[in-house]
Amino acid sequence: MYRIVWMPGDGIGNDVMDAARVVLDALKLDAQYTHADIGWEFWRSEGEALPPRTIDILKSSRCALFGAITSKPKEEAEAELAPNLRGKGFIYRSPIVRLRQMFDLYTNLRPCKAYRGNSLNYRDDIDLVVFRENTEGLYAGVEFHPLPDDVRRALDAASPAMRAFKDIASDDIAITARVITRRGAERIVRRAFEYAQKHGCKNVTLIEKPNVLRETSGLMTRVARQVAQDFRGIELWETNIDAMMMWLLKNPQQYGVLVTSNLFGDVVSDLCAQLVGGLGFAASGNIGDQFAVFEPTHGSAPKYAGQNKVNPIATFLAAKLMLDWLGERDKAARLENAIAAVIAEGRVRTYDMGGGATTMEMADAVAMHL
Ligand code: NAI
Ligand code: MG
Repeated sequence: MYRIVWMPGDGIGNDVMDAARVVLDALKLDAQYTHADIGWEFWRSEGEALPPRTIDILKSSRCALFGAITSKPKEEAEAELAPNLRGKGFIYRSPIVRLRQMFDLYTNLRPCKAYRGNSLNYRDDIDLVVFRENTEGLYAGVEFHPLPDDVRRALDAASPAMRAFKDIASDDIAITARVITRRGAERIVRRAFEYAQKHGCKNVTLIEKPNVLRETSGLMTRVARQVAQDFRGIELWETNIDAMMMWLLKNPQQYGVLVTSNLFGDVVSDLCAQLVGGLGFAASGNIGDQFAVFEPTHGSAPKYAGQNKVNPIATFLAAKLMLDWLGERDKAARLENAIAAVIAEGRVRTYDMGGGATTMEMADAVAMHL
């Protein structure tokens, strides 16, 4: 029996997770689902959106399914804290970013597939997968503002490019470091190639910008070329992020496996998600060597919370990714086929698909096909 952590979180996270449970129960997955607290409510009442008890549950489980959370900028977060917690130094941090770092969930996997009959498809022949590095790059959290004196001195001494900023006060400079490690680059590119090999894909597309970001994108590129040598018959296509945005709009059907660093991957995967129907269809896996958290990509959409209205397909697709990861190939395939069948029939459609079906009606329709 699998121990699966169940984290609905905030807003529509609850609606879509209730729907996902209907579908997983219909599949008769042999699992024990343990509810764990996460999100805004716990920030407000405890000053911690990811309470330690949740971390304990995660540590003793196989993987997690996560709905969505609400998060707000620094000042608003502070203002919403319970009065007795204010001014005590609590700082809001995104629980999902923390989970990625804490459990070293270095792969963000986002498949984008156009299911036949989905009128929201940009084209009907898109079937690609984005591998986004999930723990470093521009999201590593190495940031400064104002620029500390010692950092400034070190940069001035080490980089002639800093001369361009010599007349600017440290108060008026903000820096975010783009940290790419050989280990980080190597493991994300290797996972992408392994996936291509397993799924019979003949190429892997690296999306970087090594002609300008010579060191960070350069290291990604050099490492990718090395990794590619271990995979005979799979070609490495090297592309630049800017040009790739045009190619993805022009010929998305030509791509299979894409791999890139953290920020570029965030951007690329949202573009790709929209090509196949948008937020109601976009799911991702945050995957490490030991643990994984699966989630729909959308947020808590407060205006629809508790209305039984939003599209749960993204969460079903997240559950499908989870089943694949658990090695439950047959159940994963059955779930995907059931989702595809409901979309193809076009009878049950939520509002984003141009219909009037509820979240639960969509869940029942998919469950009926299982
Ligand atoms: P959102 O993704 O929550 O919603 C934006 C809009 O997209 C919604 O108003 C709705 O029109 C549509 N939408 C979203 N999910 C849908 C679904 N399943 N079916 C149909 N339509 C759907 O983004 P928003 O409004 O920018 O953020 C709301 C809150 O969620 C914020 O507090 C934000 O910080 C948080 N957020 C959390 C994420 C997460 O938990 N991973 C990701 C993105 C935002
Ligand atoms: Mg994003």
